[in-house]
Amino acid sequence: MQTNSWVPIFPEAASTFAWQVDYLYYYLIIVSIAFTIPIVAAVFFFGIKYREREKFATPEEMHGSIMLETVWSVIPFVISITIFLGGAIVFYNQFDTPDDAMDVYVVGKQWMWKLQHETGHREINELHVPVGRKVKLTMTTEDVLHDFSVPAFRTKVDVVPGRYTYLWFEATKPGKYHLFCAEYCGLNHSGMGGFVYVMEQRDFDNWLSGNVSGQTPVEAGRDLFENKLGCASCHAGGANQRGAKLEGIFNKEIELVGGQTVTADEEYIRNSILNPGGQIVEGFQPIMPTFKGQVTEEQLVSLVAYIKSLSGAAGTAPASPSNSSGNSNSSNSAGKTGTAANNLTPRRADRGAANTQGSNPNAPGATGPSNRNR
Ligand code: CUA
Repeated sequence: MQTNSWVPIFPEAASTFAWQVDYLYYYLIIVSIAFTIPIVAAVFFFGIKYREREKFATPEEMHGSIMLETVWSVIPFVISITIFLGGAIVFYNQFDTPDDAMDVYVVGKQWMWKLQHETGHREINELHVPVGRKVKLTMTTEDVLHDFSVPAFRTKVDVVPGRYTYLWFEATKPGKYHLFCAEYCGLNHSGMGGFVYVMEQRDFDNWLSGNVSGQTPVEAGRDLFENKLGCASCHAGGANQRGAKLEGIFNKEIELVGGQTVTADEEYIRNSILNPGGQIVEGFQPIMPTFKGQVTEEQLVSLVAYIKSLSGAAGTAPASPSNSSGNSNSSNSAGKTGTAANNLTPRRADRGAANTQGSNPNAPGATGPSNRNR
């Protein structure tokens, strides 16, 4: 379908559903014009035709017209329904996230976007993606409400504290497109933006290989799980483990104490780390301590990515042909991270894989006061 907007003031159209949004918009504009012109004309026409010609004249009596009333009820009904159907189709296409997409994790923060690829590559206010590939963003924020918006893709989704929201797109042509925060979030809201770079697959592969990647989210998550947070002591004990089984659970129905069931999606995993007493898995005791305040949003994203990876390919599509993530890298990830941290620019070093609890500048408790000082 068409990808180039022919209306001059419209932003470039560069995603698979951009034309759908545009056509819906054209339809709304045409309907608005088609009603506005006759209404304004009628106001003037009747104003002149029925102007006051003599004082205190008695107007002629009027009777209803079934024909007229039917017409002016049916036409707006049909128009309203088509607007609803068009909107519903566009909404469904945008919010039904595909399973075979490339994952990118997004953490919003006053006032920047922090993005991480499956390969471990981190970006600030920039996102590089290959053309013609579905990309799924899993998004959250460290502080207040933000909104991830790419006008050229005709998509935007709120990024909400305390939960995950999702946005997906498939870019249709290479280029550099504006990325905005579209929800007022404080003093520098207007500066909270950047660019999405859509590249040919081979350029994207070059870009990936030319950048230091550090730990992948899965590797970072495994490191937290096995070493830094000690999750493994309860959750990886084989038959006698005290914590619930995590292998193969992703996107499955889990039975809870009390007979309810819940789908083990990203949100459920996140909640179980921060509020373990909330949804206890059937057959287990509520003994897990909360990790609220001990893990940053980025660490949570890594843990979720790791727990997803325990369910195999279902939740974690491979990132690209040059993808280096996977279990085989675990043995050398520690050494690789050490050198990676040394090569990072100062801007990236403070949020690199070397983050530890306690000294983390992005920890939830550390952000509040410093923001208020701005
Ligand atoms: Cu973030 Cu506006």
